[in-house]
Amino acid sequence: MMQAIKLRKSIRKYKDVDVSPEHLQNIKTIINGAKHLFNNIPMEVLLIEDGSKITDTFKGLISKYTKVKAPHYLAFTSEIQEGHLENIGFIGEEIVLMLTELGIGTCWLGSAIKQDLFKTIFTVKENQNYIILIAFGYPLEPLKPVTTRKRFDKSKIITGALDTQYETIVQSIIDAPSAINSQPWKLAINNNKFDLFLENKNILTKKILKDTNHIDIGIGLSHLYNSAIELGYKIELKKASHKDMGNSEYIISAILNKN
Ligand SMILES: Cc1cc2nc3c(=O)[nH]c(=O)nc-3n(C[C@H](O)[C@H](O)[C@H](O)COP(=O)(O)O)c2cc1C
Repeated sequence: MMQAIKLRKSIRKYKDVDVSPEHLQNIKTIINGAKHLFNNIPMEVLLIEDGSKITDTFKGLISKYTKVKAPHYLAFTSEIQEGHLENIGFIGEEIVLMLTELGIGTCWLGSAIKQDLFKTIFTVKENQNYIILIAFGYPLEPLKPVTTRKRFDKSKIITGALDTQYETIVQSIIDAPSAINSQPWKLAINNNKFDLFLENKNILTKKILKDTNHIDIGIGLSHLYNSAIELGYKIELKKASHKDMGNSEYIISAILNKN
């Protein structure tokens, strides 16, 4: 997955062809096998093979969507419970990274869609709501390792001493996608314990991204989790009875141990 983290970037231009039937089959398997952050929150991933169902329906309503015209989309629905947004981010980003390994491009699309309209076109399970889309397809330009990204410096992301053995893991979070590139993650590292906080560093986008930033946190956690696993760590994820830290909202802790 670490190679996928390096290769991944948001793809907004796709080849005008469908993904092969073999790849679509792989994607269904990936969706079914994706790890959940919270197993108790009912959620679904809808594989929308006919992307025009999205682009035609939401054309004119939401300009951002029509900007990212892809052959296919994944739509996420979930029950609204504490942690459901982090759960969707965590599950969705693992799917993103696995699609990247297949040479498939992706882009999270977070603009608001009217629930009622969505529900007239797609079957949404009782008690669940539409949450977010991921566009996907073969990228116009093949994926290659991204060498520079517009990101905050490490010093804005972490507090506490960073042991060199964890540098790759912290870098994997820095490389993660986030809405409007807001990078709302903050890590307090204490030995092998990573406390993850949500902190939007931009006053202008803080309100608009209030909910979406919780998806970003799940995405960042997926990068942390998948890179740590690849580096041979065993990870325990648990919510401690922590206090928020200044402007930062405590979300979850990851405890890393070598197998
Ligand atoms: C939750 C979320 C929502 C996003 N929504 C949109 C969107 O509506 N339109 C878009 O073009 N990009 C969207 N993006 C992509 C971000 O702009 C992108 O991840 C960020 O600028 C960093 O660039 P990178 O993904 O290429 O590393 C979204 C990303 C995330 C994680």
